[in-house]
Amino acid sequence: MTKQTEAWGSRVGLILAMAGNAVGLGNFLRFPVQAVQNGGGAFIIPYLTCFLLMGLPLLFVEWSMGRFGGKHGHHSTPFILDAMDKRSFWKYIGVFGIFTNLSVAAYYCYLESWTLSYVYHSIAGSFSGKSAEEVSSFFGNYVSVGSGNFEPIIFWIICLVLNTWILSKGLSGGVEKAAKIGMPLLLAFGAVLAIMAVSIKAGEKGAINDGTVGLNYLWTPQFDSIWNGKVWLAAAGQIFFTLSLGMGSIHCYASYIKSKDDIALNAMSAGWMNEFVEVVLGSSVIIPISIGYLGIDKVLEMTAGGSGFGLGFSSLPYLFQQWGPILAIIAGVMWFGLLFFAGITSSLAMGTPCMGFLMDEFNFKRKTAAWTFGVTILILGAPTVFFFNYGVFDEYDYWAGTVSLVVFALAEIILFAWIFGMDKGWAEINQGADMKVPNIFKYIIKYITPLFLLAVFIFSLPGIWNKILNTDIKEKLSAATDPAVIQNLQTQMRYVNFSRLLLLALFIGISYMVYVAYKKRIKEGRFTS
Ligand code: ALA
Repeated sequence: MTKQTEAWGSRVGLILAMAGNAVGLGNFLRFPVQAVQNGGGAFIIPYLTCFLLMGLPLLFVEWSMGRFGGKHGHHSTPFILDAMDKRSFWKYIGVFGIFTNLSVAAYYCYLESWTLSYVYHSIAGSFSGKSAEEVSSFFGNYVSVGSGNFEPIIFWIICLVLNTWILSKGLSGGVEKAAKIGMPLLLAFGAVLAIMAVSIKAGEKGAINDGTVGLNYLWTPQFDSIWNGKVWLAAAGQIFFTLSLGMGSIHCYASYIKSKDDIALNAMSAGWMNEFVEVVLGSSVIIPISIGYLGIDKVLEMTAGGSGFGLGFSSLPYLFQQWGPILAIIAGVMWFGLLFFAGITSSLAMGTPCMGFLMDEFNFKRKTAAWTFGVTILILGAPTVFFFNYGVFDEYDYWAGTVSLVVFALAEIILFAWIFGMDKGWAEINQGADMKVPNIFKYIIKYITPLFLLAVFIFSLPGIWNKILNTDIKEKLSAATDPAVIQNLQTQMRYVNFSRLLLLALFIGISYMVYVAYKKRIKEGRFTS
């Protein structure tokens, strides 16, 4: 049964929404730090190779799977995958496409709320006159929620309500409008900041390097990195995160496209727009400014370890002060404003698969589905807010924002290229195409991308195993002598284990709902494909 009540209003709106889904905090905060952590120019060759051999092919695959599912009335991956093969376990693999969106949204919306709060603090002048250490500890105190510090909770709730409200307005009335406002503003703010950053001159206003030093550091290729497995894993992880691949949100957006509409050119446009924002704008703000004022060694020290989301908050507000009080406010509003637009257009995309599932399978009204998403994120996100300092946020990012993406992408490409079949798949990709996809992609999708993904997965296994065993924390524990540090690490281990159980419970819970939906379909005589 098809209950197509939603649709995109226009092609421009669709592309902006898809690009908004991809362009996110990952482009401006995660990418530059990942690049620095992995040797600057050493990162670029693995990164671009991963984009061409994994990113683009998976974009074609996910867009076409989504449109295919939409033709059968499915708007979330459990039943999109189910429609592609008669074996019943695929719908449980499809659970990843709801699970990942919910668990990434749970920590992502919190991160997004920091940007809103920092817009406010930039205008209020909270950073003016503060030293580098004070700005950095402002951030440290901000994320230490509790004992009198409730501001992050207020901004977090505002952010959740805003996401839920926009989602409740639907695709063309909410998501598309947000993208049409947010994306142009983001591009404009990004371009102004990039020009300001690369124009920094050594010796002026406290800068020790030209802005271009940071750019050169990022973009001078170093060919020896192609033998370094760690750099490849980081590059692959960044491509997944930035393009929102292996999440299920692209499938969901694409399922609302009309069956004869182009997907080849649309996928390319959204994908390349994301790369432009990431590679050109994303690398031209935070790193040139940081290296300009602090030098390469200091930036390397500040970015060591972690996912890298914090640098833009702990150092940039101080560095903007070097431009004088007025420009500091303008730069702060533009930087955190652009992060907010980048974030919200991505978190909205994370809300739609769960809503699509509830509307398709349990006849939820759009508003009820949106509020169900909001409340779920409130519950699931609470541990990342309250126990941020115990590593819960990073734990979500690791399991949901990194591992799950690779696992799901590997499964879906096998289904698409080898079970659904490459001939049928290729016809799906090219149906209604305004631009024929070059034939070489047929072979890349069939052979190279699955092998590439398999290699990424296999090389990730030792890291995953060490994570499960908490090797990192245990090593720190065995080296620690201070009882307070030992107690802190033990508490961290408990919270980390608890958050894994919570994520596991979520996965099982969604699987159960898929099972109930499947039984309901059989009872009502609705075929699953
Ligand atoms: N693709 C989104 C980002 O880059 C999730 O932040």
